[in-house]
Amino acid sequence: MSTDPRTDPADTTDQGLALHHITVRFGGLLALDDVSLRITPGHIVGIIGPNGAGKTTLFNVICGFVTPQSGALSLDGKPFSPRPHHLNRRGIARTLQGVGQFGGMTVLENVLVGARSRKPEADAWEALERCGVAEHARALPGSLPYAKRKRVELARALAAKPRILMLDEPAGGLDADEIRWLADLIQDAKTTVLLVEHHMELVMSVCDEILVLDFGKPIALGTPAEIRTNDKVAEAYLGAAA
Ligand SMILES: Nc1ncnc2c1ncn2[C@@H]1O[C@H](COP(=O)(O)OP(=O)(O)OP(=O)(O)O)[C@@H](O)[C@H]1O
Ligand SMILES: [Mg+2]
Repeated sequence: MSTDPRTDPADTTDQGLALHHITVRFGGLLALDDVSLRITPGHIVGIIGPNGAGKTTLFNVICGFVTPQSGALSLDGKPFSPRPHHLNRRGIARTLQGVGQFGGMTVLENVLVGARSRKPEADAWEALERCGVAEHARALPGSLPYAKRKRVELARALAAKPRILMLDEPAGGLDADEIRWLADLIQDAKTTVLLVEHHMELVMSVCDEILVLDFGKPIALGTPAEIRTNDKVAEAYLGAAA
C-alpha cells in the first residue's frame, strides 16, 4: 500500500481535491489506469505525458464530463461527484485545450459567463485587466489574434475567482514572450493550479510537483528536479518520439 501522502487514498483528512484509483475505459482503450493524486491547496501541479496519455481525460473526470469506471474523487475529505454545471459553484474553473469561446458574444460577455460572485461585472473587468485584454472587451473573440483569444479564455476562468484553476495546454500556439507572461500569471494566481502542458520549460519553471502519465498509467510523481532525472519519464518521451 502507498504511504506517500500525495497519493495515499486512505488519507482523506486533507483539504483540497484528491483522486482515488481512477480508471477510465473508452471501449477497449484504457485511458486512465488506476490514477491517484492528492492536490495540495495552493500548489501548482503539472500533468504531463505524451499525446494520448490521458491528461485531458483526467481533466474531464475532475469536471464531470467523463465518469470513471472505477475510483472516486474527494474534495476536502468528502466524496465529490463533479457535475459540469456545478463546477463554478464548487470553485473549480477550467480553460479548454485550444480556444473555446462563444462566437456570437463579445469578449466581456464571454468573461461574464465565468463570473459567479454578486459583483460579476467587477470580477469580469478585473480578470480582463489582469489578462491584458480589457481594451478588447467590446470586440468579438473571433476578431482577435490567437494569443489574445487564449488570454480571453484565461480571463473567463479567472473571473470565477476559482480555488482550483485548471489549464489545458495554455501555452499551445504561443510565442516565447507570451509564455513568459503566462508563467508569471500562473505563479501570481494565488490559487491551486492544475496545469496540463507539453511546454516542458514552462512546466518545470512553475510547478511545485508533476504527475507523469503514459498510456493512462501514472509513471512518476515528484518535484520538477525529480521528474527531470527520472528514467521512466525519459523512456516514455523517447518512446513517443520514436
Ligand atoms: N470520448 C472519447 N472516446 C473515445 N476515446 C477517447 C475519448 N476521449 C479520449 N479518448 C482517447 O483516450 C486517450 C487519452 O486521450 P486524452 O485526450 O486524454 O489524451 P491527452 O493526454 O490529453 O493527449 P494530448 O496531449 O494529445 O492532448 C486517447 O487515446 C484518446 O484517443
Ligand atoms: Mg489533451
